Amino acid sequence: MTVQPQAPSPGRTAGGTLGERLLAFAGSPLFRGDARVLHAPNPYRRMLVPDSLAEPDFDRPPGPAEWASHRSLAAHRLLGTFYESETVLLPEQGLSGLYEDFSLFYGRELKDLREGSVSALERFAFACLDDAVDVSGAATPDVLDAFFQHMVAEAATGPSPALTAIAAADDRESAADLYLVQLALDGLTEASAMSRNLAGAYGPEQSALFKVFIDEFGYGVHDAKHTTIFAKMLRSRSMATHVHAYWNFYLAGPLATNNHYYYLSRDHAKFFRYAGAVTYAEAVFAPAFVEMVKVFRDIFGDSVDLHYCDEHAHIDEHHGRITREQVLLALAERHGPRVVPELLRGVAEARLIGGWFEDDTAAQIRWSDTLPRHRELAAAATTEGEPQRFALTPESPFGTRNHDRAVVLEIERGEAELITTPTGPPERMARGDAVLIPAGRLYGVRAATPETACLLHAASPG
Ligand SMILES: [Fe+2]
Ligand SMILES: [Fe+2]
Repeated sequence: MTVQPQAPSPGRTAGGTLGERLLAFAGSPLFRGDARVLHAPNPYRRMLVPDSLAEPDFDRPPGPAEWASHRSLAAHRLLGTFYESETVLLPEQGLSGLYEDFSLFYGRELKDLREGSVSALERFAFACLDDAVDVSGAATPDVLDAFFQHMVAEAATGPSPALTAIAAADDRESAADLYLVQLALDGLTEASAMSRNLAGAYGPEQSALFKVFIDEFGYGVHDAKHTTIFAKMLRSRSMATHVHAYWNFYLAGPLATNNHYYYLSRDHAKFFRYAGAVTYAEAVFAPAFVEMVKVFRDIFGDSVDLHYCDEHAHIDEHHGRITREQVLLALAERHGPRVVPELLRGVAEARLIGGWFEDDTAAQIRWSDTLPRHRELAAAATTEGEPQRFALTPESPFGTRNHDRAVVLEIERGEAELITTPTGPPERMARGDAVLIPAGRLYGVRAATPETACLLHAASPG
């Protein structure tokens, strides 16, 4: 009898499969979470929900319609952590008591695991962009500019889905805070990805990009740095300002948006794509922040500090102009038709992923704002198969997750708190209570009694 050698799985290398390496990374004590819902001021600790990482098939990248799937959320949490490990994160209060965590986060063991998986994880997380964006036929700066202007105009028409969801919510304050949290992902570390494209020698376009970069950094004045004024906005809402207090509430769409800039900046083969993406972002920020100011003023009056939004409504008009004229079109002129499809691809990808940011945030706002309705939907839903059981105590590590399809969460024993927003009141659930959690929606459960048992039923909404 002969034994046929098995074909290696695409993700397998000498260090095991991608899934195995990711599990090893997420198994570090830094990533197992603790009982608190918000993370303490320690930028090295973030909950990667290692218990749920055996579920996803890391050989099967999420498709274009699966950006809010469980494996997409898991992949983008990991990827975001990988990317931030390539930046300098130090806690505001100093390292005393945290030096061990600092050493572990940047240490050899996690670095080896990251370096052995980052490219495969990027391919997994962003494979869905390959077919979703068609750039054929783009070869001249004129075509590029027409396409770009069209994309920007399209983004400016019609209200933002997330801001619309905030305005329509019953609890507009919690909805607005949920939106702020999605912005915090980038807001608290702003322009970190951009910094990777400043080194090298590429002429006037390099200096133009640097001009934008130093504005983001407040021209060297810490109080004017965009991150500093972002924190002021959070503080005016009595929210935490450290990296990443609200980690558990970042959604897959916003994580993907943030990761996309790192993804394009890490590999300079994608430099032209980065230039397209950053030009698109700078062009759409100004009108978006004008709209955000209107919605937030309407809810909070003068009690919220919107300096960050006003600053961007103003300066991103300028940045939009610089990046279009002195980066995007200048690169197309100088480097010719071969780079134009890549510039255009960057614009189109940024537009597409920006849509995920909006749609994911809007969907999360709508679901967390209508939990009583989702209790009714649980009663009407058809459940299938054996439920999954899990038990919690008040000391259990808190983490959030989502599912690829709708599930009904039922409390079998004890009482629990269902948590779906960073600042909204938790939803108290007693024994026998059930709620329908739609596909893709983020939630966490906390025990409210010494022992709590929950059931998760696969469900079809009724
Ligand atoms: Fe900024
Ligand atoms: Fe900007």
